[in-house]
Amino acid sequence: MDQAEPQRVVVMTGATAGLGAHTAQHIAGQPGTRVIIGARGSKTVPLGAGVLPLDLASLDSVRDFADAVTREIGDARIDILVLNAGMQTSNAERRSADGYELTFAVNHLAHYLLARLLLSRMADGGRLVITTSDTHDPAITPIAPKVLEPQSLANPIKTGFGSGVRAYAASKLCNLLTAQSFATLDEVKAHKITVIAFNPGLTGGTSLGRESSRGRRAFVMLLMRTVFRLVGLFRPEYVMGTPERSGQVLADVCLGAVTPPPGRIYVSLVKGEPTFPDPSELARSRDAQDQLWRESAVMVGVGQRPAADDAGP
Ligand SMILES: NC(=O)c1ccc[n+]([C@@H]2O[C@H](COP(=O)([O-])OP(=O)(O)OC[C@H]3O[C@@H](n4cnc5c(N)ncnc54)[C@H](OP(=O)(O)O)[C@@H]3O)[C@@H](O)[C@H]2O)c1
Repeated sequence: MDQAEPQRVVVMTGATAGLGAHTAQHIAGQPGTRVIIGARGSKTVPLGAGVLPLDLASLDSVRDFADAVTREIGDARIDILVLNAGMQTSNAERRSADGYELTFAVNHLAHYLLARLLLSRMADGGRLVITTSDTHDPAITPIAPKVLEPQSLANPIKTGFGSGVRAYAASKLCNLLTAQSFATLDEVKAHKITVIAFNPGLTGGTSLGRESSRGRRAFVMLLMRTVFRLVGLFRPEYVMGTPERSGQVLADVCLGAVTPPPGRIYVSLVKGEPTFPDPSELARSRDAQDQLWRESAVMVGVGQRPAADDAGP
């Protein structure tokens, strides 16, 4: 990787496709910026960015990636940590290398572990940005979870029709709960790290639904172009955006051009513009945040107390 005197270090997941590819391009184009992308397989990345292997479906791979980043940056610090990778399946049958439901494992558990492992390497005044979705919120999406049951998310019993989208919505709730837990850590406050949960909103033209059958993808596209367009006349959250715009705003969030008002951490892109609404009631529950933190720590095998120093395996 390029070792030429960068001033700003950015570590990012989900930079190889969809909206994140646009984000990475914007960030890598900033002067004096070094971008390290975690990705599976060999990928084309923007000029100025380097890739280290990362498969979020394996906690060992997450640990190896965190070690590799630490070696790679040496004495430098991470200025911006962007946890944007995500996936959705048509049902909740698939399992990660560690035996957890795949969507929960990739979208939540892996990012939770990665953030815990890299927190102590972050720069003072740094930014931790986690991509969530407004599908976490029952007020916007009826399938969103109304209760938090981490064990059921990790090992679901119901894996039939609709379980894939429900697992996805729940994993995005977990992203928001996790962001809020990080924001309350003494270490985060002491180092003035800004934590943001970013909702790109409904974004067409990405590969998020790639694991669905062709028929299902065509059905979803039809829904987006018809029903969602109609609903969008009354509910702006249903207006579909582009990967270019969503990626640009995520870059703005990462680079500090967009920041929520004091005391808020949720940035939600609605009709192409950042807004700062309340997340769902469940996402704001301190009990739910603590429960998810505790149970996730056990699942990934890190210490119970919310401090980065005890994050080693
Ligand atoms: N599109 C929407 O409407 C929408 C709405 C709200 C929130 N979001 C969120 O926005 C983020 C980006 O979504 P997108 O729509 O841009 O999806 P996308 O086009 O499918 O991109 C997903 C990214 O995640 C990476 N990824 C997936 N599984 C991985 C794994 N096991 N290990 C490492 N990397 C993995 C992909 O890498 P590969 O290139 O290797 O596949 C890709 O870079 C996600 O967190 C998603 O939940 C999207």
